[in-house]
Amino acid sequence: MRDWLSNFVARAPFTVHSKLNGAFFVIVALLIVFGFVVLQVLGGMNRRSEDLSQLRRKVAAFRQLQLDTIAQLYNVTSTLLSPQERELESALRQLNEYRYDLERLQFVTKDEEELFRKINAEHERLNQLIVQVLELTRQRDFTKAKELRIQTAPLANSLERLTNEMVNRAEADMEARVDESHGAYLTSRWVIIGFAVGSIGLAILLGYAVSSSLMGPVTLMDKRLGQIASGDFSRRVEVQNRDELGTLANNLNRMNNELRGLYHQIETASRHKSDFLASMSHELRTPLNAIIGYSEMLTEEAEDRNQKDLIPDLQKIRASGKHLLVLINDILDLSKIEAGKVELSPETFDIAGLVEEVVSMVQPLIAKNANILSISRPDDLGSMYADITKVRQILFNLLSNACKFTELGTITLEAVRERSGGIERLSLNVRDTGIGMTPEQREKMFQPFTQADVQTARKYGGTGLGLAITKQFCEMMGGEIKVASEYGRGTTFIVKLPLSMPDGRSSATTASA
Ligand SMILES: Nc1ncnc2c1ncn2[C@@H]1O[C@H](COP(=O)(O)OP(=O)(O)O)[C@@H](O)[C@H]1O
Ligand SMILES: [Mg+2]
Repeated sequence: MRDWLSNFVARAPFTVHSKLNGAFFVIVALLIVFGFVVLQVLGGMNRRSEDLSQLRRKVAAFRQLQLDTIAQLYNVTSTLLSPQERELESALRQLNEYRYDLERLQFVTKDEEELFRKINAEHERLNQLIVQVLELTRQRDFTKAKELRIQTAPLANSLERLTNEMVNRAEADMEARVDESHGAYLTSRWVIIGFAVGSIGLAILLGYAVSSSLMGPVTLMDKRLGQIASGDFSRRVEVQNRDELGTLANNLNRMNNELRGLYHQIETASRHKSDFLASMSHELRTPLNAIIGYSEMLTEEAEDRNQKDLIPDLQKIRASGKHLLVLINDILDLSKIEAGKVELSPETFDIAGLVEEVVSMVQPLIAKNANILSISRPDDLGSMYADITKVRQILFNLLSNACKFTELGTITLEAVRERSGGIERLSLNVRDTGIGMTPEQREKMFQPFTQADVQTARKYGGTGLGLAITKQFCEMMGGEIKVASEYGRGTTFIVKLPLSMPDGRSSATTASA
């Protein structure tokens, strides 16, 4: 039911703005209707309490009348016992006053007309009787007067009974009203509670439907964007909304398709480039090796034939050839990495042996800039299981960079085993006191073909490929590389490699284009 409702709100063809406003207005309307119902109930209760207090006043007045009637009748009857003219006249005056009271009361309550008529009639007859008795007394006809006097007794009784009945009726009426008013109070209490609960329920349901019809698609799109960001273009986001969120989802799907197309194009282009570079590098290396080989042969021959003036030129040819070969090898390495074609061939080897080997390889470079190399390593470095060629290349790249960018300084190589997180690692630390790097240079030095700046590139040569390859090799073997550097002061590279890597790890899983 709730899903149905939020789907219904989602599919409604209105803008998000109108939906929110609509929900708000419905809640306001509920509040207004609720207020109206409460006012109605309060009005009813007020009316009933006014009625009740009027009834109470009526009952009090009736009681008063009842008391007056009894007193009056007592008075009149006792007067009639001693037929003095003066007293009879006073009884008659009293009776007339009583009638005035009665009429006033009649004016107050119009609903007991019948009863009042009866009381009036009886009263009228009593009055007439007394007038006649008075008349007869004046004429000294006491026998007749006595006869009439006897007739007043039943009249007085009847009058008393009628006033009693009047009071009883009014009291019963009031009790009924009190019960009725209590019942009405209970009903209106339930009406208010019911209305309040209903309105709250409706408002909550409406809020839920509107918010979930908005948040549902937002969450879906957020998830989809996360997948796109991590390179998954295979899915679409399905949103039912026919508002701005629906449009947003459509645009997201279109963007996804565009990106997927572009991604495929880039992938293809990158593969072509890598294939081209791989084949070109191979084609270039064959003649280059011939050039290097023949320049070496010619150097020897020139020595044999004693043509020493040719030797410096021949050596330049050989050096240039070697330099070119290094460049071509780097390019080949990088394109292989990018094409995901690098396979690791791990083996167990002695770490100290490898360190010595690389150190002897860099000796000429150390001497070239008049640097000092200091090596610090424990005697029991032991062995590790990794791709020895790549570890060698990593260490060589770092040491040759240190030599290249340092003059008359100290280069320190530190090799130690360390254990953290349950894994044993080899930590290689290459520190120099050379030119150092600015934070901006440090940020991009691992990118291929990137060098500090034009001047550095011109002064020191190189292609900017060494560190890119080094980083890829480290990560392929499950390791990492970090750098700390201060401009003008020196640089420290720290490489950490696991002492044993899983077998047959393909570069395809770690190489990133
Ligand atoms: N030890 C170092 N001291 C100062 N700068 C360095 C050092 N190692 C690398 N760099 C900077 O990083 C850049 C990239 O290094 P690298 O990838 O080896 O390329 P290349 O050696 O061909 O210039 C270098 O050009 C240099 O600016
Ligand atoms: Mg380099």
